[in-house]
Amino acid sequence: MSDLAPPGPILTAGSNRAEADWLGGLPFYLAFQLAGFSGLMILKIVAVGLLLYLLLKRNEAKLNWNAFFIVIFTLMAANTAWQPTPRLLDCWFLFLTWIMTERWCCECHEKVCHQFEGAPHLRTLRKATDADVLDKFVGKEVTLKENGYTYRFYEKEGALWVACDVYPNPVRIEWIFGSGLHALTPVSLFKNEAGKSELLQHIVSWHPSDKLGITLGLQELAQNTAGIESLGEVLSHEKTMGCFGCHTSYLGNKPGEIQTPQMIAGVSCTRCHLNGEAHIKAVEQGEKDLKLTKWNQLTPLESINRCGECHRRSDQLEPDEIHPDNELLIRFAPIGISQSPCFIKQGELKLPAGKSSRFDCTTCHDPHEQASRDLEYYRQICLNCHSQLEGHVPVCSKEAMDSQCLKCHMPAVNVHDNLSFTDHWIRIREFDQQRFPELKFKNSQP
Ligand code: HEC
Ligand code: HEC
Ligand code: HEC
Ligand code: HEC
Ligand code: HEC
Ligand code: HEC
Ligand code: HEC
Repeated sequence: MSDLAPPGPILTAGSNRAEADWLGGLPFYLAFQLAGFSGLMILKIVAVGLLLYLLLKRNEAKLNWNAFFIVIFTLMAANTAWQPTPRLLDCWFLFLTWIMTERWCCECHEKVCHQFEGAPHLRTLRKATDADVLDKFVGKEVTLKENGYTYRFYEKEGALWVACDVYPNPVRIEWIFGSGLHALTPVSLFKNEAGKSELLQHIVSWHPSDKLGITLGLQELAQNTAGIESLGEVLSHEKTMGCFGCHTSYLGNKPGEIQTPQMIAGVSCTRCHLNGEAHIKAVEQGEKDLKLTKWNQLTPLESINRCGECHRRSDQLEPDEIHPDNELLIRFAPIGISQSPCFIKQGELKLPAGKSSRFDCTTCHDPHEQASRDLEYYRQICLNCHSQLEGHVPVCSKEAMDSQCLKCHMPAVNVHDNLSFTDHWIRIREFDQQRFPELKFKNSQP
């Protein structure tokens, strides 16, 4: 072979030294001398680094096919000239280019995206291999007072496992539900006899007090646990799809199966802003109509019901289930809001121009970030409508304007040892008995 004529400059590019020669230039030459990298290699490393950096800055997708094909064809043409066979790095390069040329919501909405990074909505479903998750479970142990069994969490080969003293095998945990603001609940996925995904919802959850305790809703299960039920509740396929349905933005398109590679975990942009593709196209083509439904063009009821797609709507319950002493409602904010006079009678307000009398979830919450924990923030919102000024609704007949309204009219209620929710049914709780004479009240006194 050695007596073959040396190939021309471009065709020798497969060898590092030749690449360095071909690209010439002192920086490439020095880099080659120092690290053994060729010039082309450096170009690619820089390009991949740049792509990775850009990639980290984005998170929602829409493919720009034109850009994708132009990049691929240029790359392929260049590649065959430089070197006959693709290398591993080239495959990476292709893959990253593909992702890069997608159009992202965050390309144009940097501010909202930045705000959204830490949002509970985005973090409500995570892989159990997440460092933050491992940190909260690994090496911990708890004996549930409800059943007396001991559960031990540990890490093996990068994954999270749980062992229970009365169950023969440890079980691997794949996903964690909940952002951690209220709870982190581990689950394990497996296939049932029909090949469909089912879920084991573990009986032990982590709570923000940094304590492990029983999962909300599984208190009853703890009474009669044997076999797999000592670990938690096995959910039917339908329920499994329900859990993932409300905690993801995209589930993949194979019915009957949770396709984790395709799944987009967490509640992200496109889950609340439908029609993203048409929107991006409209913006790109300079159209006037941005093709998104504006949330504030929905009626207040439509708006709270769209949040209620996940937070539950009042029409999902029987009318006789909707009364102030039903503890279940405390978790379902849209139902409470839909019963509140502030919501029902918002149309009667005649606030001066420039002040909005609209009342829906966004009156108090920005869904792109964590809910405010500041009582004063909420009091100011109440005073926006409740004031002695003209056109406003009456102020409190019991307490001064500078008292903490939430404490009496919208309190946090404990639903579980480690967990409280805010009762979104704004009302005078002292009058509950009067309004619902047929009920016996436990919860109404603040
Ligand atoms: C090519 C740039 C671009 C991309 C990509 C893009 N948008 Fe927009 N978007 C705009 C512009 C421009 C506006 C109008 C000005 C504004 O409100 O910022 C807008 C407005 C909006 C609004 C406010 C609508 C209104 O009428 O008040 C929402 C919500 C929105 N975009 C969501 C999204 C979501 C979700 C995605 C991803 C699927 C996305 N955008 C992708 C450029 C873009
Ligand atoms: C696709 C389902 C879904 C939709 C739609 C949805 N949410 Fe949520 N929301 C969730 C989940 C899941 C959580 C729990 C997050 C966690 O794990 O802490 C949550 C949590 C919240 C929280 C609590 C955040 C905190 O700081 O504790 C607020 C407030 C909230 N959502 C408001 C809204 C509003 C307002 C809308 C409508 C504009 C809405 N959500 C629409 C699923 C949804
Ligand atoms: C109809 C939509 C929906 C379904 C189905 C659903 N969730 Fe949620 N989930 C929510 C919403 C909304 C929240 C935030 C408000 C709340 O906590 O109720 C939430 C909150 C949570 C949290 C955070 C802790 C907490 O209590 O706030 C965990 C953990 C959780 N869900 C697990 C699950 C599991 C496991 C399943 C399946 C058994 C499931 N969810 C089914 C909508 C849903
Ligand atoms: C839980 C539902 C939800 C999610 C998830 C969500 N949004 Fe929104 N978004 C809303 C609502 C509701 C409004 C209207 C807020 C208002 O009227 O005060 C809004 C308003 C906007 C606006 C216009 C107003 C503004 O603040 O500039 C933009 C742009 C926007 N969203 C982009 C995004 C992007 C990008 C993402 C993903 C990173 C996202 N949204 C995720 C519910 C959501
Ligand atoms: C009048 C103000 C107000 C309105 C309107 C409102 N909320 Fe809230 N919300 C609160 C307060 C106050 C908290 C408690 C914040 C804290 O933890 O300190 C809260 C907390 C939450 C939480 C966290 C869990 C909990 O119960 O503490 C969720 C979820 C939530 N709201 C959803 C919604 C949804 C969905 C809507 C619309 C149907 C809505 N909220 C409308 C005031 C409001
Ligand atoms: C968008 C305007 C608006 C906001 C904001 C608002 N309210 Fe109201 N509120 C009303 C209206 C309208 C009524 C009905 C008045 C009537 O019956 O004439 C009402 C009635 C009430 C009542 C009487 C309930 C009953 O059972 O008769 C209470 C208590 C109340 N609001 C407390 C609050 C508190 C606390 C806040 C803040 C967390 C708040 N409101 C925020 C508009 C609002
Ligand atoms: C210590 C508990 C407490 C606090 C704090 C409190 N309220 Fe009240 N509020 C009540 C009670 C009790 C009533 C019913 C009084 C009566 O008429 O017998 C009431 C009545 C009301 C009414 C009905 C008034 C009417 O004439 O129909 C409104 C509106 C109201 N409160 C708003 C507020 C607002 C806004 C705040 C915060 C600035 C607030 N409340 C703080 C306990 C409280």
